[in-house]
Amino acid sequence: MAKTWRVVVGSDDAGFDYKEAIKKDLEGSDLVASVTDVGVDADGHTNYPTIATTAAEMVARGEADRAVLICGTGLGVAIAANKVKGVRAVTAHDSYSVERSVLSNNAQVLCMGQRVVGLELARRNVREWLTYEFDTTSASNEKVQEICAYEGE
Ligand code: RB5
Repeated sequence: MAKTWRVVVGSDDAGFDYKEAIKKDLEGSDLVASVTDVGVDADGHTNYPTIATTAAEMVARGEADRAVLICGTGLGVAIAANKVKGVRAVTAHDSYSVERSVLSNNAQVLCMGQRVVGLELARRNVREWLTYEFDTTSASNEKVQEICAYEGE
C-alpha cells in the first residue's frame, strides 16, 4: 500500500482561493492521511511569513510530513518556511521541478503562486507531488545531508 501523508496547507489572502481548492483535493486523496489548515480563513489577512513559519514548524516538529503553501508568487512563503531549521521548501510550478524537489532535494514543502500558475496546473502539481517519496539510498541523499550538516542538524 502507498504511503500516506499528513499535509499542512496555508496561504495568505493572495493565495486563499488556491489553498481552498487544494485543501479540498487533499481531503479527497487516498494518499493523504490528514489535512491541517493553518489559515488564512476567508476574511483573514495574516501576513505570509506567519502562515509559512507556522506550517513549517509543524513539519519540523514531526506533526506533519509535508506542507503546501500558496501566496501571490510562491516566493515569500518559501523564503519564510526555509528559515525553519530542518525544512526544505521550494517554489515549483512545473511537473519536473515538483518531481525533483522531492526526489533530488527531499523538500517537504511545496510553494506555488496564485498569481503565477493556473489553478488546474497547481492542482495537478500537488496530485503528482503526493506520489513521490525521497529515497535515502539514492545518490541525492549525500547532497541533502550536506545541506543538513551546514544547517547544524
Ligand atoms: C502579497 O502580500 C504578496 O506579496 C505575497 O502574497 C507574496 O507573493 C509574497 O511573496
